[in-house]
Amino acid sequence: MSVQTDPNHVVIFDTTLRDGEQSPGASMNLDEKIRIAQVLEEMGVDVIEAGFPIASEGDFKAVNEVSKIVTESVVCGLARATRMDIDRAAEAIKPARRGRIHTFISTSPLHMKHKLQMEPHKVYEAVIDSVSYARKFTDDVEWSCEDGSRTEHDFMCRCVEAAIDAGATTINIPDTVGYALPDEFGAIIEMLLNRVPNIDHAIVSVHCHNDLGLAVANSLAAVRAGARQVECTINGLGERAGNAAMEEVVMALRTRQNSMPYSTSLVTEHITKASRLVSTITGFGVQPNKAIVGANAFAHESGIHQDGMLKNAQTYEIMTPESVGLNKSKLVLGKHSGRHAFREKLREIGYDLDDNATQTAFKRFKDLADIKKEIFDDDLIALVDDAVIRTNDRLRLVSLEILCGTAHRPPKASIELEVDGEIQGCNATGDGPVDAAFNCVKTLFPHRARLHLYQVHAVTQGTDAQAEVTVRLAEDGKTVNGQGADTDTMVASVKAYVNALNKLLLKRERGKPNQVLSK
Ligand code: KIV
Ligand code: ZN
Repeated sequence: MSVQTDPNHVVIFDTTLRDGEQSPGASMNLDEKIRIAQVLEEMGVDVIEAGFPIASEGDFKAVNEVSKIVTESVVCGLARATRMDIDRAAEAIKPARRGRIHTFISTSPLHMKHKLQMEPHKVYEAVIDSVSYARKFTDDVEWSCEDGSRTEHDFMCRCVEAAIDAGATTINIPDTVGYALPDEFGAIIEMLLNRVPNIDHAIVSVHCHNDLGLAVANSLAAVRAGARQVECTINGLGERAGNAAMEEVVMALRTRQNSMPYSTSLVTEHITKASRLVSTITGFGVQPNKAIVGANAFAHESGIHQDGMLKNAQTYEIMTPESVGLNKSKLVLGKHSGRHAFREKLREIGYDLDDNATQTAFKRFKDLADIKKEIFDDDLIALVDDAVIRTNDRLRLVSLEILCGTAHRPPKASIELEVDGEIQGCNATGDGPVDAAFNCVKTLFPHRARLHLYQVHAVTQGTDAQAEVTVRLAEDGKTVNGQGADTDTMVASVKAYVNALNKLLLKRERGKPNQVLSK
């Protein structure tokens, strides 16, 4: 039973890998999900919802593999209120040291009538059946009433009481469509705590969507009213306008202890790293003025603010950049640094690579040091991420030359690509240098995938900064995000395109698209 001892502790339930992945285009492959899960565990997330196992082979595998690797956090699999879904979730979390089944059903009049086409008494029976069935596999069962904020209170109380009687240890109230206002949502939690007789046998949780931009405010109002689990995602990723952003919820609790004396287990210094990882993998950039993790969140532009900051940082900063892991990008190593110092530095910034990966990364570091005088932590992160994603690739960029400029002739690209061990070359023109280079790749490796996103981000400042490029391709309902980093933006672009194609090839081999079932 997961009812906690500290009454002011708020459980952080991260659903980046499940609800977050339901953002159109934010697909992640297995390796990427594992990397994110490891970062989530490292940062002290209590529960990681790793997927919806019945939804696809890929989702099942993700929950299953995360269950094998994660030891500290609870690993959770989502299931509708059917035995087939629950069997699949139970199978997926079997290897977990601490596994949870999260089962849900809609309870609002609108959803019951039009979506489920079920009478309320049938929904009520399904609540009891699904929760008691899930309890056969694990002691840790969470039950959610989908569209909770639009559910009639009497019916919600009956269902919650029945779910707890059937063995649910967490009761989650979702604001599925992001409709609630903070005072209303807090009042729902208060109402449940006052009216459901066995409510003290479960933790009350909330899961807020951001359709009106209120997901974080609603989550905090619920905590004030007595909720002790918040479901959230890194960068607020999630269906439609997304879910409550974890970094905002956690930093609001940390910063406003005077008004909200609640604790979490989060090591907030890992926030920036997690945010960057999720944004790089999904290709969902973070808006510059986004709270906590936006590029401008700790920047001070106006003279008056800068003057205040120099006199006392608290004049314009309510939390320190260090508290979210945003240290001034440090100058790290130089051209003459040795392998040992390099490995130590990698450990310091959170990478524990095996000998082979270290060797590859070290060689690339030396190459980079030849081109770029100053190498910062962020350069190293981009470089290592770039090396890690390129293992076992079938397609590989060998060389690239581009001709472009103000002359009135079309830009031209010459590329050599290794395709299954064989080097092939070609020339192509295009509307611009990127178009010409991508046309070359299409000629060398014909495919039907369509380009949905091309995005460039500078890793550090200055004209010699590495460019980090994301390319999103879609083919037959399958979406992949490829990444590439290099001091040459064109090289980074082709690497990202080739990386996306490699991922697509893997998806084709594995067959099934990563479809998401309708909830
Ligand atoms: O938004 C929602 O209602 C959900 C449930 C499955 C918890 O994601
Ligand atoms: Zn949701």
